[in-house]
Amino acid sequence: MCRGIWLVPVLGLVGCSGRQSALSPAGEDAAWLHDLWIVMLVGAIVLWIALNGLFFVITRISPRKWPETYVNPLIIGGGVLLPTVLVGALLAYGLSMMPKMRADGDGLVVKVRAEEWWWRVEYWPSGADAPIVAANEIRLPAGQRTELRLDANKYIHSFWVPALGGKMDMFPGRETVLTLRPEIPGVYRGQCAEFCGPSHALMAFEAVIQTPEDFAVWLEAEAAPANPPATPEAQRGEVIFRDEGCGACHAVRGTEFTGLVGPDLTHLGSRHSLAAGTLTVTRDDLMAWVAHTGDIKPAVAMPAYDWLAEAQLSDLAAYLEGLK
Ligand code: CUA
Repeated sequence: MCRGIWLVPVLGLVGCSGRQSALSPAGEDAAWLHDLWIVMLVGAIVLWIALNGLFFVITRISPRKWPETYVNPLIIGGGVLLPTVLVGALLAYGLSMMPKMRADGDGLVVKVRAEEWWWRVEYWPSGADAPIVAANEIRLPAGQRTELRLDANKYIHSFWVPALGGKMDMFPGRETVLTLRPEIPGVYRGQCAEFCGPSHALMAFEAVIQTPEDFAVWLEAEAAPANPPATPEAQRGEVIFRDEGCGACHAVRGTEFTGLVGPDLTHLGSRHSLAAGTLTVTRDDLMAWVAHTGDIKPAVAMPAYDWLAEAQLSDLAAYLEGLK
């Protein structure tokens, strides 16, 4: 046998930490699920060793020497009682977590709609009569339970931030509710967890957890209109944005661009990622994205603007990068 075989589980475990891992919980719900997973893992290991030990012993005894009085207790005890008690105890332990995971939120509601390979996000602070619209990034305050109301545009998707909690399916025409109480500020990664089409694997997002104070400051800034273009190239970029009809699909609050088809771009420049966790919000990536949408993200609705000259793409990217 290959001597390096022991490396396989070790390398596997190395991949279990980090910002997209259910084994590095950063919130109350994820911590409960982590405990459940550890209990099940330890239980499974104990059971595996016990059963294999028993199998090892039994195969070394001749069937003739096996006292017949052991047979019924073994079948009833090992075949009926043991699994019933074990699975029953696990079920009770798992179910006992459900009420606290379904506890009501503390006020803030975040609505997330899964679109064709990106995320439409609306923040509804308690008492608000209009949402603060964003996309492809979810910010939540630490130490508070936030209610996430989820649905989908066309296909079934699944919302999952492993470091914060369990996954929840997202359906067209039906709202599902997930509440999460993150605890450790940081930037975590969420990923669509239900195969939804050609760009399923490219349907990710950043979940940014902030202290309640930082979150309040951010939310106020997010509610504000976009900064007007500050440099000559960004101003030229805004003209290209208008001439190419980008505003028919994208909204930039505070401007005449009010399209609702694609992601809201009002504060695109302050997000952690572009194209739903696929690229970074840098000049090069913005240029590459606009010119090669379908190559980067198969079946995406936005056409590739590959007829734009390099200088035009650069100006457009400058405008988009400056939307903060
Ligand atoms: Cu959306 Cu998979």
